[in-house]
Amino acid sequence: MGALAGRRIVLGVTGGIAAYKAVEVASRLKKAGAELRVIMTRGAQSFVAPLTFREVADAPVATTMWGEPQHHVAHIALAEFAELVLIAPATANLIAKAAAGIADDMLTTTVLATRAPLLLAPAMNTVMWESPVTQENIHRLTARGAQIIPPAEGFLACGAVGAGRLPEPAEIVRAAEAHFARTQSLTGRRILVTAAGTEEPLDPVRYLGNRSTGRMGYEVAAEAARRGAEVILVSGPTPLATPAGVQRVDVRSAREMYAAVLAAYDGVDAVIKAAAVADYRPAETAEHKIKKSDGELTLTLTRNPDILYELGQKKRHQILVGFAAETQNVADYARGKLTKKNLDFIVANNVAEENAGFGVATNHVQIFYADGRAEEHPLMAKAALAGIILDRLAGMLRK
Ligand code: PMT
Repeated sequence: MGALAGRRIVLGVTGGIAAYKAVEVASRLKKAGAELRVIMTRGAQSFVAPLTFREVADAPVATTMWGEPQHHVAHIALAEFAELVLIAPATANLIAKAAAGIADDMLTTTVLATRAPLLLAPAMNTVMWESPVTQENIHRLTARGAQIIPPAEGFLACGAVGAGRLPEPAEIVRAAEAHFARTQSLTGRRILVTAAGTEEPLDPVRYLGNRSTGRMGYEVAAEAARRGAEVILVSGPTPLATPAGVQRVDVRSAREMYAAVLAAYDGVDAVIKAAAVADYRPAETAEHKIKKSDGELTLTLTRNPDILYELGQKKRHQILVGFAAETQNVADYARGKLTKKNLDFIVANNVAEENAGFGVATNHVQIFYADGRAEEHPLMAKAALAGIILDRLAGMLRK
């Protein structure tokens, strides 16, 4: 059975001359066992008749929001049906609407209403493809997690030669296959993820904490579960909901996190430590609320265990992934932690940067590997970064 068998795919077809190639894409998807629904924009119908898709791929075709309804809210039904929304060809217009959240026809409304990943195969004239506004829209979509199949170079319908051709249908189908293969890439693996900050109690009402919300670690845990892993999420306090299919262990302090992580360590294939762990805790926790007095209050802090360092010392078969939260000398400090903690790779974020680090939905990171390699990634959604981290991890686990 191939990676597409039984997968629910919505194929969006927009109004470019390459729309005719989408017929072959639909036919190949169907032959590979996908359960297919097609949505055509009005422009697409000027190039190819809906009947062609219905006959070639035996797939229901939606052409308008306003036709005879098969379902009382058809776009929601399609949005919920989709495990993947593949748009081929994706015109500059569709890309701009999707980037802006415009929902003015069946396809764009489904795109807005779905939680399924988006895979886009842009096709257009070279100047339109290279125009700053299209590139900005592509960047906005990829930052939100959309995947792009880059257009091929060659003769275009407008007579020009350059980038903008729709890739061959076989290549588009391979990209969909690769997407679903990735979703199974951690099947049978046990992965421990830590997330959020720790709280170190001063007295019954106060604690020393940090600004971690858990978003980064929760995205990693959710994506690992989607890719088939058995996920244990050791989490500091956060209002975030437990991702589907994830076993969550709640902790408060660094010492509680230490105990929970060490208890699970022997049975896991990998650990990803996105939590922001307090290096110090108050030397004493007052039994009752500390009352204010006129003078200053001096706190004595004592060292917490370095959980990741301990894991590095006890490492046997496990892959260890750390995060480094820095505000300066990011590369040097991150590389230092990579070596000292015996990690396989470390994801370094400059938490002083806007839109990166604590609390926000995006991150901007460099990844440093034990073999000396380094990667710089653009600003992207934490969900998309989770995918990259897990791609790298899955590759290492395979070896
Ligand atoms: O949760 P969000 O709001 O989404 O924010 C995400 C994040 C900024 C918290 C995340 O991207 C991040 O950088 N996490 C690591 C924070 C951190 O504690 O970094 P560090 O450089 O101090 O520690 C390095 C590594 O050692 C980390 O993997 C950390 O989990 C681990 N560590 C640190 C101290 C300690 N006592 N025990 C540890 O295991």
